[in-house]
Amino acid sequence: MILGRNSQCWCGSGLKYKNCHESFDEKIKDFKRRGYKVPEHDLIKTPEQIAGCKAAAKINMACLDYVGAHIGEGVTTQDIDDWVSRITREMGGISATLGYEGFPKSVCTSINSQVCHGIPSEEDVLEEGDIVNVDCTTILNGYYADSSRMFMIGDVAPEARELVEDVHEAVNIGLAAVKPWKTLGDMGYAVNEFCKSKGYSVVREIGGHGVGLDFHEEPWVSYVTEPNTEMLMVPGLMFTIEPMVNMGAADIFIDAENDWTVYTDDDSLSAQWEVQIVVTESGYELISW
Ligand code: MF3
Ligand code: CO
Ligand code: CO
Repeated sequence: MILGRNSQCWCGSGLKYKNCHESFDEKIKDFKRRGYKVPEHDLIKTPEQIAGCKAAAKINMACLDYVGAHIGEGVTTQDIDDWVSRITREMGGISATLGYEGFPKSVCTSINSQVCHGIPSEEDVLEEGDIVNVDCTTILNGYYADSSRMFMIGDVAPEARELVEDVHEAVNIGLAAVKPWKTLGDMGYAVNEFCKSKGYSVVREIGGHGVGLDFHEEPWVSYVTEPNTEMLMVPGLMFTIEPMVNMGAADIFIDAENDWTVYTDDDSLSAQWEVQIVVTESGYELISW
């Protein structure tokens, strides 16, 4: 279909195409001609969709704030699941993880050498020295918010604390590389180079993703990338930055008993922070963190 220049823009603004996204589309086409991967229109979030995701993120972040205020020695990961499940419901949301491809709980809790997708359990009691990732995803009115944070239990070994802090910094370095009309490869490269400089390795098989109208949308967001590769970051593209970073080797395996929990192959510690962002005309806006 050819969109007439005087017909309404595809973005739902109500403006004429020629006064709205025509030059934007021309620019994308130009990048595409030059060999770049570019997003389709359905990945470009409208202001209304962005507002919907922000409302979902309020719940997501309220859950993580609560976890931060109450986590500690003796807390079980099931307690965390109970908190997240209750707060999400009280605030009118739905936990996206519960029942997602069979995942049995409302949040992922990944301790020490667990890389991601840890399943909350009564049996997992947090102990002094543990580092734990809590990953929440909330749906509100069909819009998704997805973010995760690390928590340290009591006194933590210096190298474990450094890993947690460095991975936080890695995400900030990734964020600084988010600029419209640059590529996801630029962002991932910045994250990976920083992590390598600290002697860590970034997990290759699992990464970030587009998000907003669904849990996992295009694009796939890798950190083991070269500059000027992967999808073009155009204004309105919404995705997560969520590197999983191992103190040792990058290799991982999946728990054969539950088919979910991912561990480091060499039993080294792993840390992850996740933020959800939308690309803007000048850089990015944080949606959930
Ligand atoms: N929240 C995770 C992510 O950041 C996905 C968890 S899927 C689950 O993409 F099923 F394990 F919950
Ligand atoms: Co995610
Ligand atoms: Co997540």
